[in-house]
Amino acid sequence: MNILVTGGAGFIGSNFIFYMLDRHPDYRIVCLDKLTYAGNLSTLAPVMQNPSFRFVKADICDREAVYALFEEERFDVVVNFAAESHVDRSIENPSIFLQTNIIGTSVLMDACRKYGIGRFHQVSTDEVYGDLPLDRPDLFFTEETPIHTSSPYSSSKAGADLLVQAYHRTYKLPITISRCSNNYGPYQFPEKLIPLMIANCLADKPLPVYGQGLNVRDWLYVEDHCKAIDLVIHKGREGEVYNIGGHNEMCNIDIVKLICHELGKPESLITYVTDRKGHDMRYAIDPTKIHNELGWLPETKFENGIKEAIRWYLDNRPWWEEIVSGEYQNYYERMYGKR
Ligand code: NAD
Ligand code: DAU
Repeated sequence: MNILVTGGAGFIGSNFIFYMLDRHPDYRIVCLDKLTYAGNLSTLAPVMQNPSFRFVKADICDREAVYALFEEERFDVVVNFAAESHVDRSIENPSIFLQTNIIGTSVLMDACRKYGIGRFHQVSTDEVYGDLPLDRPDLFFTEETPIHTSSPYSSSKAGADLLVQAYHRTYKLPITISRCSNNYGPYQFPEKLIPLMIANCLADKPLPVYGQGLNVRDWLYVEDHCKAIDLVIHKGREGEVYNIGGHNEMCNIDIVKLICHELGKPESLITYVTDRKGHDMRYAIDPTKIHNELGWLPETKFENGIKEAIRWYLDNRPWWEEIVSGEYQNYYERMYGKR
């Protein structure tokens, strides 16, 4: 099996590559990544010499480069992780989100049509469903929940999902889509809640909590997401959407307090800052379909996973310290300086 993984130098894509090379040693994995600010080649260092792995630096929007790679490799499966993924950046500047997340996805699918494919899998997000109210804990996102987006990021992901479904109906492209809740774990870029709070805690810097910190996210350990995608590409039904989530809802302030506690830092570091524009209140996935059809269940409990994640950031300081010392400083100042 020859699998193209786009966006594999980012957080979930890199974890997926490690998981797949370990789980399926007879597979060949090609990673195509533009290496944006969020992509880090050093993340892939452990597999760079693996003969079953190849890295190609390219933009999924670059039709010529994408077609040339498909011509050369004749992939069996494409798993599209490549995306601009940070909601705050999409609020600052939506256009690159539309370009990569929508146009890039269409270029990849055009290549699949031209050269043939066994499966095109789109890695989507629970954010396409919008949000749920805090006072209705009985409500969850199912695959039937209407698309109803809030941010330029989630709108661009929803746009891509609609295109993927259109390519299935119109051209019979063999697709699947997965919509997962918030991931955490190794190699997550420190602009996202959990690694940002760990990095700031370790530097005794203020911990910027948006609004009142009451927004709820449904956290899943990244390896459980990778296992789910592996199942979907092998056993998922063509044309179907699968929600992925582990019924692990937590509000932001509780996560931040937990990180303070684990790192032995005072809660006085917590600073409430201006809320995110259009901030989604609650995400909560109903994973019944993937459980019933494919037998998937999350394996890592949050209380263990968060400890593992914190330990990883403690043990791998050079990986994230290099990131937070560069251009990220300008982003941080823009985003949090006068907040
Ligand atoms: P990330 O930002 O850590 O990584 C994105 C990767 O895509 C980077 O390596 C980047 O260089 C690459 N990339 C960006 N634009 C590209 C382009 N035009 N061409 C080629 N490569 C490009 O993102 P992540 O958190 O790992 O998310 C991966 C995917 O999973 C995204 O599609 C995201 O929408 C989805 N997702 C993320 C989460 C989460 O909690 N992080 C949850 C559900 C779904
Ligand atoms: O639900 C899946 C989505 O999860 C993915 O599709 C996105 O790619 C991924 O980035 C993530 O989106 P969120 O916006 O939920 O994640 P983020 O880590 O940015 O924020 C999590 C919550 O924490 C959110 O309610 C905003 C809040 N927050 C975030 C940051 C960075 C803060 O309070 N302070 C912060 O500094």
